[in-house]
Amino acid sequence: MVKTKFITFEGIDGAGKSSHLSWFAEMLRARGARVTVTREPGGTHLGEIWREQLLRDKMTTESQALLMFASRSEHLDQVIRPSLARGDWVICDRFTDATYAYQGSGHGVSTDLIDTLATWLHSDCMPDVTLLFDVSVETARRRLLSEGRSPDRFESEQGDFMQRVRDAYLALAASDPQRYRIIDGARTKEDIREKLVDLIEELFPL
Ligand code: TMP
Repeated sequence: MVKTKFITFEGIDGAGKSSHLSWFAEMLRARGARVTVTREPGGTHLGEIWREQLLRDKMTTESQALLMFASRSEHLDQVIRPSLARGDWVICDRFTDATYAYQGSGHGVSTDLIDTLATWLHSDCMPDVTLLFDVSVETARRRLLSEGRSPDRFESEQGDFMQRVRDAYLALAASDPQRYRIIDGARTKEDIREKLVDLIEELFPL
C-alpha cells in the first residue's frame, strides 16, 4: 500500500505553479489515488472570505500573518486532517512556507514567531513533499504582466520584496532537501511535466 501524502506547491507569484497543480492531481488520480486539491489562504468558507480580504484590503503585516494562520487553522481542521485521515492525498497550493517567505522574509515578521505559531497549529501535520517552482523575479514579473490582470496586494509589492521572498524559499529548500524538490519554472511546460511524472512515479509506484 502506498502511503498517502501531503504535498504542497510553492513559489513566488508568477512562478507558474498553479498551472501544473491540477494536472499533477489528475496524474495521481489516474494512478488510482484519491486526491483532495486545495489552497491557502482559503480552502474553507471562512478561509476564502479571509483570502479576499488578505489579497485586497490594507492591513498591518501582523494582521496578515495572524489571518494566514487563522485561515490555516480552519483549513487543517476542516480539510487537511480529515482528508489525510480518510486516505486522500492532499495537494495544497501554498502552506506555511509561504508565511515564512512572504510575511517573514518579505515583511520582517520574526522567524521565531512564525515557528511558534506553526508548532502550535500543526507540528503533527507537515508536508511530506514541497515542490518549489523557482524563477527569477524578472521572469515572474514578465509573466504576470503578460496575463494582463490587475495585481493583488502581494504581486504589487515594490522594491526587492519579491527577491527576498524568492531567496527565502531557496533557503528553506536548502535547509530541508529531503522535503523540497526545486522545479525550474523557466523551463518549458513539457520539460516541467516530464520532471513531475518522474516524481509521481517515485511517490506512487505502480
Ligand atoms: P496565490 O496567488 O498563489 O493563490 O497566493 C495568494 C497570495 O498570498 C500570494 O501572493 C502569496 C500570499 N501568501 C502569503 O503572503 N502568505 C501565506 O502564508 C500564504 C499561504 C500566501
